[in-house]
Amino acid sequence: MPLQICRTSAPKPHIPDAELGFGHVFTDHMLLMDYTPETGWHQARIEPYGPFSLEPATIVLHYGQSIFDGLKAFRTPSDDVVLFRPQRHLKRLNTSAARLCIPPLDETLTLGALQELVRLDTDWVPRTPSCSLYIRPTLIATDPTLGVHPSRTYRFFVIMSPVGAYYPEGFKPVKILVEDRYVRAVSGGLGAAKTPANYAASLLAAEEARAQGFTQVLWLDGIAHRYIEEVGSMNIFFVIDDELVTPPLDGSILDGVTRDSVITLAHSWGIRVAERRIGIDDILAAHGAGKLTEVFGTGTAAVISPVCELFYKGHAIIINDRKVGPWTQRIYDALTAIQWGISPDPFGWIVSVKQS
Ligand SMILES: Cc1ncc(COP(=O)(O)O)c(C=O)c1O
Repeated sequence: MPLQICRTSAPKPHIPDAELGFGHVFTDHMLLMDYTPETGWHQARIEPYGPFSLEPATIVLHYGQSIFDGLKAFRTPSDDVVLFRPQRHLKRLNTSAARLCIPPLDETLTLGALQELVRLDTDWVPRTPSCSLYIRPTLIATDPTLGVHPSRTYRFFVIMSPVGAYYPEGFKPVKILVEDRYVRAVSGGLGAAKTPANYAASLLAAEEARAQGFTQVLWLDGIAHRYIEEVGSMNIFFVIDDELVTPPLDGSILDGVTRDSVITLAHSWGIRVAERRIGIDDILAAHGAGKLTEVFGTGTAAVISPVCELFYKGHAIIINDRKVGPWTQRIYDALTAIQWGISPDPFGWIVSVKQS
């Protein structure tokens, strides 16, 4: 499929890296592609970033038939621009698509178009180390109808946002409220897909936690309200008795790319890793026995987010004296060094946007 490119005639001024937050500023261009059952995915094009119109009856606005993903591009010290594990992100986009009855994208073709988009807006990839370009591929149902059924037509678009350093003053361990009332997802539901409904489901709990002084919530399973699932919109890891423990991918948890990268790194260092169900009571017991030494979340935005406190039913579980633990620091340093092109990439995770 040919990729049509229409360059902007009015490039936007850039914001200094020090003033970048997360997701407020967008680059000059976006990638678009449309789907009809008759032609499949067609009309791949890059256009100036800007609004597009939808009829008020459009399915996505009523029933949320939509999926997205989130990945990053980094500028290396040698001024190359690289994507972190884009194939795995596109594969996950297609896994989400299957759950939402959305036709799959051609992953190879989409990666090529994405590289072209990043090449075109390459000046938007921040030069300050630890800043990056966040890339948001999104796919929405576009039939204008109120019937509850999968859409016939779809639009895929990719927008990009330069984002600031997540930890400009170093790691900030966070306080987390263990959520025992609201649930994010249940097995058999949408939890394993990256779809807006999961984020809508999380908002009220997160707001109530924030009002009580917590950064995020720790989600428990939707049936027993006992087994640990995720932390905010990140996967979660515990260091218990010198073992790295994380909940298994049992259908209600997102298969995080950072989660997989952490597991791969840990294996390569000979660290024991267990993907197993773990109850909040197990965490309390491990803490009581002095065996719970570190807790951290993993995700594309922060990479690693150390947890210093879990608050459950009126009881504060303080982790590692509220300090960042050595495993957390080692994993963060190793992963970001690969992403930022500072150390070699033995796993083949980095994909340059340079034309081969
Ligand atoms: C619900 C949820 N869990 C986990 C993650 C972490 O996934 P990744 O490491 O691929 O960013 C994310 C972010 O994408 C998320 O939204």
